[in-house]
Formats: sequence, structure tokens, C-alpha cells
Amino acid sequence: MAAIRLKGSHTVRPCDPTWIGTMALSEWDQIGCVTHVPAIYLYRSPNRSASAIAETLKDSLSKVLVPFYPLAGRLQWIGNGRLQLQCNAMGARFIEAECESSLNDIGDLFLSPQHRNLFPSADYGLPIHELPLFLVQLTTFRCGGVTIAIALSHAVADGPAALHFMSEWARITRGETLQTPPFHDRSVFRAGQPPLASSPRPTLDDFPEYGKPALLLGQSDTSEERKKKTTTAMLKITKAQVEKLRKMANDSREKPMARGFTRYETICGHVWRISCKARGHRKQQPTAMGIIIDSRSRMRPELPREFFGTATFDVIAQSMAGDLMSKPLGFAASKVRETIEKVTDNYVRSSIEFLKNQKDLKDFQDIHSLLRKEEGPFYGNPNITVVSWLTLPLYGFDFGWGKEQYMGPGPYEDDGNCLLMHSPEGDGSVVVAMCLQEAHMDEFKKLFYQDLL
Ligand code: COA
Repeated sequence: MAAIRLKGSHTVRPCDPTWIGTMALSEWDQIGCVTHVPAIYLYRSPNRSASAIAETLKDSLSKVLVPFYPLAGRLQWIGNGRLQLQCNAMGARFIEAECESSLNDIGDLFLSPQHRNLFPSADYGLPIHELPLFLVQLTTFRCGGVTIAIALSHAVADGPAALHFMSEWARITRGETLQTPPFHDRSVFRAGQPPLASSPRPTLDDFPEYGKPALLLGQSDTSEERKKKTTTAMLKITKAQVEKLRKMANDSREKPMARGFTRYETICGHVWRISCKARGHRKQQPTAMGIIIDSRSRMRPELPREFFGTATFDVIAQSMAGDLMSKPLGFAASKVRETIEKVTDNYVRSSIEFLKNQKDLKDFQDIHSLLRKEEGPFYGNPNITVVSWLTLPLYGFDFGWGKEQYMGPGPYEDDGNCLLMHSPEGDGSVVVAMCLQEAHMDEFKKLFYQDLL
């Protein structure tokens, strides 16, 4: 692919006055990934000039930032690794770029780290209060096609909230009106409401997800594993193969269950088992699997789907690699089920209480390892994290020139990261995007399909 030339960078502010003031963030907004999450949309034939597309997008962005005003604000450190959000209408960043290549020349967008320049990059060297929370890069190609790549701060919105924003932005660009206003009240996630004073103070034993992930036997830190080169594979499984796996899991479950395993539980179990085998773990190797859970439907009362903030958080399933490898799929899938089932309204509230009681949140945030190249949380070998996009409305973002031909996340380079997506064809197949150390990938791919034949 030819080099990408930056043509301009603009600040887009809300077109009407918005609420101005300090918005308290919940503990979840402030932990884990507090940096920007990238995604990209590709349109082959928008049939209009680059400048017309840019003007239309900037205009509609200034409109959608009125109801979604937190995205036009800035974060601010308030001590002890804690952040708050200044809703100050400073605006989003809109970057225009061009590439001499044709879209046909760029290959698979998802797999290639060389496509990083298609994404807007947030400069974490700047003071945080100068960093826009939403950045977008429009790149036009020689063939007339475009990519719209975004980077959206996870401290302000999780995946479901980000997709809600994108879908409303597309609607407004098409000339339609806002469909569902975002729900901005984050107070539901304040700890101690209702007060938990009568219960014992939550500890790390109650929330293993906030502790240190398992290490490879014989290693005292993760420095060696972090140095190893990784690679990503996109592994497609048909609907029939998913059902075959699901049957294998259900037929081998250890205890009676009220309902059979879901696709997520089944595929997680499969990926976890075979990653242990591909990595060559010994029987006594402890391993953990990170699961990102959306708490919207687990709270009582339930949170509105349009809650705009971070309602997702990580929990971990733990096992010995030997058990995962020697027992049938039903064992691994039931570990995943047990972990998800423990997340009730009470668990959510006491998890927040736990974080509230932490003196400093720095150890729980990714941004410090990026800035100072120090060791932050690492979920690589011998652990994995499986993120589900299976139920998210990922596709069909029509800005007025038809739906995208491709939608995907940004470059994917962290050992052990796995993403499940339903395929855009709507045929029930699932795409498993898996990142592993290069040395383990061939074996992983071989084992991945072995049980599906
Ligand atoms: N649309 C279509 N199907 C849905 C749905 C929706 N909105 N919500 C649930 N379902 C289906 C699921 O696909 C599943 O059916 P399947 O077995 O055929 O796949 C079933 O209902 C049960 O779903 P769920 O209760 O969500 O369980 P799960 O095992 O599929 O997923 C979690 C478990 C924890 C991954 C999931 O509940 C969750 O919280 N996902 C978070 C997604 C997210 O926010 N990702 C972005 C992270 S920033």
C-alpha cells in the first residue's frame, strides 16, 4: 500500500450549546482500558468527492455531538489514578488523509499492522486534558473508495455505547433525526448505593480479576513473554460447525444445567482448551480466561440499553491447563458458565465497592504502561481473553452512500486476545479472531479445526 498523506486536521465542536460542567466517572470508566479503542469502516463506492464526504461528516458530527456531548469533552486526572470528565465542548478531532493505492491493493485490513496509518492516533504524550475523546480519520483512495476509522475513549464509552453513537451519527449524516437519546446518568454505578456496610469488605479473593494474572510456571514475571512476536488469524466457523461444537459441549457437561451452553460459552471453552495445547502447557500450569461482561441486563433494575458510559467489565475463569486439556469440552464451557453466572447485581455493586476502596487506581489502568513502557496488566501466555461482539449491532452503518463493505477492529497484536464476531453475511457463521505468539499459531490453527471436521 502506498504511503498515506495527511491533508488536514480539524476540531469539530457541537453545533449547539451543550451541558457544561464536571461529570463524575464511575470506577469502571476509570479502570482497564482507559485509552482509545479503534474500529474501521470501508466504503468502496461512495460516489461523491472526498471534500463533499468530509464536509458532510464534519457537519453531522457537530450535530451528533450535541446529544453525545461527553465525547466532545476532556478527561482530567484528579489524583490517585482517578479521572473525571470535563464536559466543555472542546470537540472531536477530524483528520483527512489520502492514499495513492486503490482499495483492492490494501489486502486484509484486519490482519495487517501496516495499516496502522489508516487509524487516527491519540498522542498519550500530551497532557490528558488536551486529548480529544473521539478521533476520526477519513482516508480517500485512488479508486474513489474511503475508509472511516475511529478511535473512541473507553473511559467515556464501552462497545455497546460506542456502537450506539456510531449508529446515530450515521442516521444524522443521512439526514434523519436522532432515534434513541443516550442515557447519561452514571450515578447508578456509584459504590455504596445501596450501602454495603453490613457485608464484609470485599477483598481480592472475592474479585480475582483485580489480582495478578497467572504466570508461566518457572517465570517470576511477564517480561520474557511480552517480547515474543505475535500474529493474528481469522478463523471462520460455519453455523453447522458451531452447532457441532455446542453438542459436544452439552453432551459432556459435568453437572445438570437448566439450559444448554451458548455459542459464546462453547467457543470460549474450545479456544481455551486448544490454546493450552498449542502453547504446550504442562498439566500443573494455572491459566485464566478473561471474559468481558456487559452489566446492563444484570443490574436490578436493568440499565437502559442506551446507557452511555462503561457498563462492561472483566471477570476471569480459572483452571489448571491439565484439566482443560484432558477433560472434554463440557468442562471448559462450564468454567465459563460458572464465571458468568456469578455476575449478579450484588456482584456488580460489590466489585465497584472494592475498587472504590483502592487507594490508587493506577495499577488497574492500561495508560501508564503505554506512557512509561512499564509492565501493565498482561493477559498473554498462559492466559487468554475472549471478547464477544456476537450480539452487538456491528454492521450496516450507512452514512448516505450505502452500507460498509467491511467493518473491523484496529490492529490486533496482543498475545491471547480473541474476538468473536458474527459474520456480516448473516448466515450464522462466526469469525474467531485470535492473536497468539507466532510460535504457537500453526498448532492452534490445526487443533482449532480438528474437532470440527
Ligand atoms: N441479539 C441477538 N442475540 C442475543 C442478544 C442480542 N441482543 N443478546 C443475547 N442474545 C443471544 C445470544 O447470542 C445467546 O444465544 P446463542 O447461544 O445462540 O449465541 C443467548 O441469547 C444468550 O446470550 P447471553 O446471555 O448474552 O450469553 P452469552 O453466553 O452469549 O454471552 C457474555 C455471555 C458475558 C459474553 C454476554 O452476556 C455479554 O455480556 N457480552 C458483552 C458484549 C460486549 O459488550 N462486548 C463489547 C465489549 S467492550
